Amino acid sequence: MKNQIYGEFAHHYDLLGWNRFARICAIRLANFVRLRGTGRESVLDLACGTGELEFQLRRTGLSFTGVDISYQMLSEARRKNPRAGFVHGDITSVRLNRKFDIVTCFFDSLNHLGSLTDLKRTFKSARLHLRDNGFFIFDMLTPTGLAGWEAVEVRKSPEYYVTINGHHDVEKGRAEVTIEGFVRANKDSYRRFKQMVAERSYPFEDIRDSLSGVGFDKIAVSSFNTDEPLENASRWFFVVN
Ligand SMILES: C[S@@+](CC[C@H](N)C(=O)[O-])C[C@H]1O[C@@H](n2cnc3c(N)ncnc32)[C@H](O)[C@@H]1O
Repeated sequence: MKNQIYGEFAHHYDLLGWNRFARICAIRLANFVRLRGTGRESVLDLACGTGELEFQLRRTGLSFTGVDISYQMLSEARRKNPRAGFVHGDITSVRLNRKFDIVTCFFDSLNHLGSLTDLKRTFKSARLHLRDNGFFIFDMLTPTGLAGWEAVEVRKSPEYYVTINGHHDVEKGRAEVTIEGFVRANKDSYRRFKQMVAERSYPFEDIRDSLSGVGFDKIAVSSFNTDEPLENASRWFFVVN
């Protein structure tokens, strides 16, 4: 079932604005390499999605390899980035037999993993693909952030009409959202789509211990949204090595 996530929805992902988060991450990554690197780093982007990070940074000296489990997301990524490399794979087990200067994993992609075991396996994938002194940079929704999924939202524009109906299970630390609606197919008609996404959150201690368990000893964490104090953060931003 895993490879059915982000099927047809992949082709609407950017239109519906889901690529905006990667644009923020692109600015952060560009700033990071300006301050801490050379600007010519190789980057492995785990769960690269439609390749928006690669697209935003295509005119920099960074070189990208993206991995994703969705063939449809990868096809969007390849269309947008003819010069970057994209590989179909599962981030919990992918082995490219190459090392990179930086590994990234953005936009709750790690929350998509169904278990702490899969999260640890993905941290190991990141570790194995990093050069000595390389950085793993990622974000994760916190338990507080995932609780915010208990909501219903409607978004519309001349190009689409979308409802986002989320449910959060407090006890299990899991949430599920159904994204459903219509996108314009041509002047006279709309195409219907439906996508369900399930995510889970983990206590900070579990994330920290899982990182150190695979050899990430230096863990820097901040609130992704700079107006939220760390203790109430809805999303954590990690830079680890
Ligand atoms: C919310 S999207 C984020 C995509 C991209 N990083 C971004 O910032 O727009 C989550 C992505 O994770 C991918 N994904 C989920 N589980 C995965 C897995 N086990 N292995 C590889 N990719 C996975 C999905 O296919 C999807 O492209």
